[in-house]
Parts: sequence; structure tokens; C-alpha cells
Amino acid sequence: MDELRQKYLGAIADAADEPTLEELRLQAVGKKGEVSLRMRELGRMTPEERQEMGPKLNALKDEINSALAAKKAALADAALNERLRAEWLDVTLPGRPRRQGTIHPVSQVTDEITAIFADMGFSVAEGPQIESDWFNFDALNIPPEHPARQEHDTFFMSRAEGDNRPPHVLRTHTSPVQIRAMQETGAPIRVIAPGRVYRCDYDQTHTPMFHQVEGLAIGRDISMANLKWVLEEFCRAFFEVEGVELRFRASHFPFTEPSAEVDIRCSWADGSLKIGEGDDWMEILGSGMVHPKVLSAAGVDPSQWQGFAFGMGIDRIAMLKYGIPDLRAFFDSDLRWLRHYGFSALDVPTLQGGLSA
Ligand code: PHE
Repeated sequence: MDELRQKYLGAIADAADEPTLEELRLQAVGKKGEVSLRMRELGRMTPEERQEMGPKLNALKDEINSALAAKKAALADAALNERLRAEWLDVTLPGRPRRQGTIHPVSQVTDEITAIFADMGFSVAEGPQIESDWFNFDALNIPPEHPARQEHDTFFMSRAEGDNRPPHVLRTHTSPVQIRAMQETGAPIRVIAPGRVYRCDYDQTHTPMFHQVEGLAIGRDISMANLKWVLEEFCRAFFEVEGVELRFRASHFPFTEPSAEVDIRCSWADGSLKIGEGDDWMEILGSGMVHPKVLSAAGVDPSQWQGFAFGMGIDRIAMLKYGIPDLRAFFDSDLRWLRHYGFSALDVPTLQGGLSA
């Protein structure tokens, strides 16, 4: 009896896992287990022996069963503790950042434009968005009584009574940067000036704030032919379409003479815009030879210098390139819209390019 007891209680205490415990249970108290066999022998004993051995065997069986149960619970506890130790999670670790932003299509297109004109020798000039009416109008040969002042749907800055500073406006075009650039560096000059402009207008193809890029090239003998070549070269590079077709339409701007508006061939089929095909034309810019009065206003001698200027709608050509039918989407949309058009998260540059996850 004691031997049996020691053997099984010892083995149970030493058991390393549940299968071992189950094995021991079968060996000891299973149907054919050692304790069970002993109990069966009770039948062959004398009543006195049976009275002595019966309760002892029962007690041993109970003892083994409860040792098994206790060990089983202990093993489960240990397993749980081991898992807790191995699988712990440091909730104080900072999260992995997910890049959410995308570069705005207008910024991306502005960069593309700048790169293409840089290849043709144009540098970038800048001017303020709040501009004096002299730079925005007068210097560009638009005197106060000129009807173009009304056509521009100008936002005027309010002035307190008695404020005698010159009137200011939100610039209605990037052309005032022509004046500033020529005043700064004189001729010859070759610059572009991308930036925000403002007009009180709102529909599918107009927003009160939009973007233009001004171009200006002044030299001894720069002509309309140079203008045409530069614009065609630009459109080929920008739209990546070999057969881009441009249409020069005679027009009028106070600051150029002669003047031309330029349209690009496109199609609106299936509600999306396509470049270089179709029967539609979309106006993308105004241009012409810089008016002698404009050169004079900027301190450049018109008897020595001449050149061309153009002003192109950046949002317009972004719409054309990416097939976006409504200009308003640029300025009142969210990330889902940007993703729809395939603009992806900003890539943070790395030295080796590829180290970032
Ligand atoms: N400033 C003109 C506009 O906003 C465009 C333009 C620029 C035309 C330069 C001719 C020369 O419509």
C-alpha cells in the first residue's frame, strides 16, 4: 500500500505535462490500474481483511485523484504564467506611424512645370499675393478707367477711413511679377512665376483662388516664334503626349501686343478629359509680346528690348493631365479623392533610397 502510495504521489508531483498525468491516472486508478486491481482482490479476502483494506484502498484512490487534480491545476497555472511571460505586450511603445498625407496635385504639377521650364533656362520669380493696384493694373497698362479692371472680378483690400496708403488687391493674375522681376534684374531675363491668384468667381471651371504660372522672356530679338516653340515644347513634356496640338487664337490683353490665347486639343468623352485627341479645345493660357508701355513701367528700354509673356492656369492643366472634370474638387475634397486619382503618400527621401520601411 505505502509503496503504491509513494510511487504514484511521487510520479504525479514530478509529472511535467498533462499527457504524463493522464498516463499516471490510467496506471493507478484506471479500469486496469494498479489500485483498481487491488480493489478487485477485495472479493477474495476474508471479511476482516476486507474491512481493513477496503477503506484504505478507497482513501488511497481519493488521495491519488485529488493529487492528480491539484497537479493538473498547477500545470495549467504554470502554462498560463509562461504564456503571460512570453507573449507580453508593451502598450507604452509608440505606434508605427502610417503616412497619411499626399502631395497636393497642384503642388506636384507646379514642381513639374518648374522643372520643365528650368530645362529651357527659366528661373523662378516671386511676388506678393496682396499686391498694390499699381503692380496688378497700372504698370500692366490697365489704367483706372480701363474695363479690364471690372472684368477681373477683383477682391479689394478694405482700407480704414483716412488710410492714405495706395489701394491693395488680392492679385488677379501673376502678371505683376513680370514688373517686379524686370525691376529687380532688368533685361535680358527669362523667368517663370508660379503662384496663387484670386478672382470672385465660382463654378465647375472657376474657383475664387486658383493658380497661374507666368512666363517672361525678354531679349534683343525674342519673337512670337520663340513663344510658340517654348509652349509646344512645354506641352509635349508636361502632358507626355507626342501629338499635342495647340491652337493660337488672336486675342487682346492690355499688357501684350499682339496677344494670343492658346487652346489645347482634348476630349470630354465619358465624363473624363483626355489630351491630344477629340474635337474639343480647352483654353490653357493667355500670351503675347510684352507691350512697350509695360517694359517702360518696369524700367526696361523698349527700343532695346522685346520679348514674350504668358500666363497659364496651373489647375486647368492639372485637370487635363489627370482627367479631373471639376476644378472645385481641388480645394474642397479629402484624401479619398486624391487617392482616387492615384496621388500617393509622400515618400520621405532617404540617403540610400530604400532604407525606409
Ligand atoms: N494675365 C493674363 C490673365 O490672367 C494672362 C496673360 C499673361 C496674358 C501674360 C498675356 C501675357 O488672364
